[in-house]
Formats: sequence, C-alpha cells, structure tokens
Amino acid sequence: MPCAKVREICAAFAVESIEIVSQAFAAELERALRGQNSSLSILPSFLTSPSGEEQGEYIAIDFGGTNVRVMRVSLLGDGRYTTGRKVARPLADLAQGYDLTTPDTTGEELFDFIAALVKRITDAENDYALGLTFSYPMQQKAIDKAVLIEWTKEIKTSATVGRDIKSLLGQALRKQGLHRIEPVAIINDTVAALMAGAYSHSEVCMGSICGTGHNTCYLESSLHTLHGHPMIINTEAGNFSSVRVNSYDRHLDQNSLDPGKQRLEKMTSGKYIGELFRLILLDLMDQSLLPKAFQESSIWHPLSVDARILSSLRGHGLTERRYLQQWLNERGLSVYGASEQNLLAVIAEAILGRASGLIAASFLAILRRNKGVHSDLAVAIDGSIFEKVTGFSADIELFLNQGIKGSVVRLIHTADGSNIGAAVAAAQTTAMG
Ligand code: BGC
Repeated sequence: MPCAKVREICAAFAVESIEIVSQAFAAELERALRGQNSSLSILPSFLTSPSGEEQGEYIAIDFGGTNVRVMRVSLLGDGRYTTGRKVARPLADLAQGYDLTTPDTTGEELFDFIAALVKRITDAENDYALGLTFSYPMQQKAIDKAVLIEWTKEIKTSATVGRDIKSLLGQALRKQGLHRIEPVAIINDTVAALMAGAYSHSEVCMGSICGTGHNTCYLESSLHTLHGHPMIINTEAGNFSSVRVNSYDRHLDQNSLDPGKQRLEKMTSGKYIGELFRLILLDLMDQSLLPKAFQESSIWHPLSVDARILSSLRGHGLTERRYLQQWLNERGLSVYGASEQNLLAVIAEAILGRASGLIAASFLAILRRNKGVHSDLAVAIDGSIFEKVTGFSADIELFLNQGIKGSVVRLIHTADGSNIGAAVAAAQTTAMG
C-alpha cells in the first residue's frame, strides 16, 4: 500500500481533467491564430500536405534530437520510398572529446560538423537538393528562409540564435567542397513527421514528436501556401503553459537553461521525465522513505536519468526486469527489493500517465479543429518516447478515441520521419519551382 507521501505525489501528477486541459489548449491556439499573446505559436512552414507522388533522390538531415542523422532518401511515388547511405553521430560524445551543445561551440562549428557528415554519404560530382529538419523554434519567411528563434532541450550553442540557417549550412557545405548540394527546404521535425506520414497515408492531418523534445504541428485550413493549399503550422506545443505544475516541476524548471519556458515539454519529453523521476527519488530518500544512495552514485547528478527506466518499471518482461536491476546496481541501489521497486513503479506510472494525458489533451484540441474538414483523422508521430515507452502510444490513442466521437483516430508511427519528411519537403519545394 503506497504511503501518504506517495499518494500525495500521485495526486500532484494527476491530470485533473483532460477536457479542461484540451479546452485551454484550444483557447491558446485560437489566441495565437489571432496574433494575441499566447504560449503557443503559429509558425508557418510554407508547406502543405504531400500528394504521395513526389519523386527523386534527396539528401536529408535530421538535426534536433540526441543524434544528427544524415541520409540519402529516394522517393518513388505512390507513397513509397527507400533509404540509402546514412550516417549518424551524437551531438555530444565526451569520450570522443566533443560536445556541440554548449556555448563553447559556435553555430559555424556546429554546421561544419553536420556538413562533414553530409560529405561522408555523397559524391561531389552530382547535383542534389537537400532537406534539413531543424527541430527548434524557427521563424520562416519561405521554405528555405529560416531564422532560429531560440534553443530548447538544454542546448546553448553560441552564435546561432537569430542566424539564417540556410546560410550557415550553405557555407559549411561549400567549405567541404559540396558546391552541388543545394539546401532547398528547412523544416521543423513535427512538420517532417506530418510530411512523412501523409506521404503514405493521406488522412494524416497532424504531426508530432514525443522524443527528446515534444511538439505538434497541423494543417491549418485558414492559412494558405503560395499555391493556395492549407499550410502546415508549427505550434511549438512544448511551450504550452496552462498546465498545473507541482513542486518537482518547479524545481526542474528553475534549474533548467530556459526557466519559465517549455512547460508542457518539461512534463512530457525524454529530456526531462527521467529528471522528474530522479527528483522524486531524491525527495523520498531525503524523507527516509527509500534507502539513500552512496555519495558517489550518479543519481545525484542532474539530468543523469533517462526515460528508459520509467518504461522498464512499467513493463513486466524479462528484459525490463534485467534493465531495472542493472540500473539499480549501477547507482548503488541494489538493496532496493520488491517493495521499493513497486514504489518506483508507482512513481513512474504517475509521471508517464500525466505525460500521455497532457499530450492527448493537446491532440484533442487540434483534432477537433480538423474534424469536419477531414473525415478520417490520423496523427503521424515519431520520437523515442512514443516508440519505446511501454503503453505510451496505446494510452494516447485510447484518450483520443474516447474524446472524439464519430470518427476513429489513428496514430501512425513515422520511423525515420525527420529524414523522410525532409526529403518529401525538398521534393515539394523543387516541384513548385
Ligand atoms: C522544439 C520544437 C521541436 C520539439 C521536438 C522542442 O524543444 O522547440 O521545435 O519540434 O522539441 O523535437
């Protein structure tokens, strides 16, 4: 039986009403659409849903999660594609002696790193159009004109905010001798998920990322591309702020690199939910409700816990139990037996249940806007939390189908969505001439 303190924690993480959160999200979105003050944004992508017939070979870069991924993508039409040579590198690899995420690295250095990866999978003799998925808030004036508004997800690379992303990438490619590669589309990863999903499934009207970060985009029928089609809009949903915060959320926020910002993201995404778990664990140790870790344990280090442990605490398979035991051992917590592990599972459940509930509430708000416009509703989603956390996608799907009457909502996982979507965006841009 969980003790009073644990019950208190669960209550602090409970979503009081999905409906109320959803209405608050809808109201914030409406304010943003009217140009009024809002924690959500209406960032234009200048792209519309693809036809599925786009074709050609493209270079696609995915920059914005834990790794940079560069890939050759061939679009075959009829919603089909193949991927070719690819390379991926982490943004930070301390064993290799680099970390591109701190102010010690400049935007130029960051893009030199990315361009060097592009060189590894291309030949300098051929012409290629390139699509870049750049997963941060960007102000765009055209598909290939994007300026970084601010960094999120604890990145603070210097001399990049306010800069034109295409120029940074273009210069870096030229330094590598890649004069025949032309960046033609710069898109957010949610837009990439939508493009990739809609390429094969025409009912996709939203794109979302539930990974290191969280965000959602959708097709807004009142805003149009240059050719008069509904435009895909990035809402920067991770910044949604009409959410009830508790003491752990406040602590996390105050110690983050962007206090007061990305409130929803800090409750739902892979960068932060492990940290919430860690903060609760330390609190329970402090109150002698759990045995204390040794001083040398990594559990004392901020942001040292990733979301995988939360998923393992939910699963009941052998792999999960092994991972949990190894996780505890590595942190000097091997004395935690069945009752402590049950308590940790209750905490993980509280954090994950809130995350999926809040995300579902935000999706509901957008789907209801789209209902009537589209008869079938599907959301294309990518990201490690969606893909790997036990039960996460099923929970969201359940909430959505309870909240939307009269149509079935499908969640479509877009594996490699950031790269495939970047290629589809490059194809749409090239076709528009
Ligand atoms: C960024 C978004 C991005 C999301 C998912 C957030 O931190 O602000 O632009 O779409 O992460 O990667």
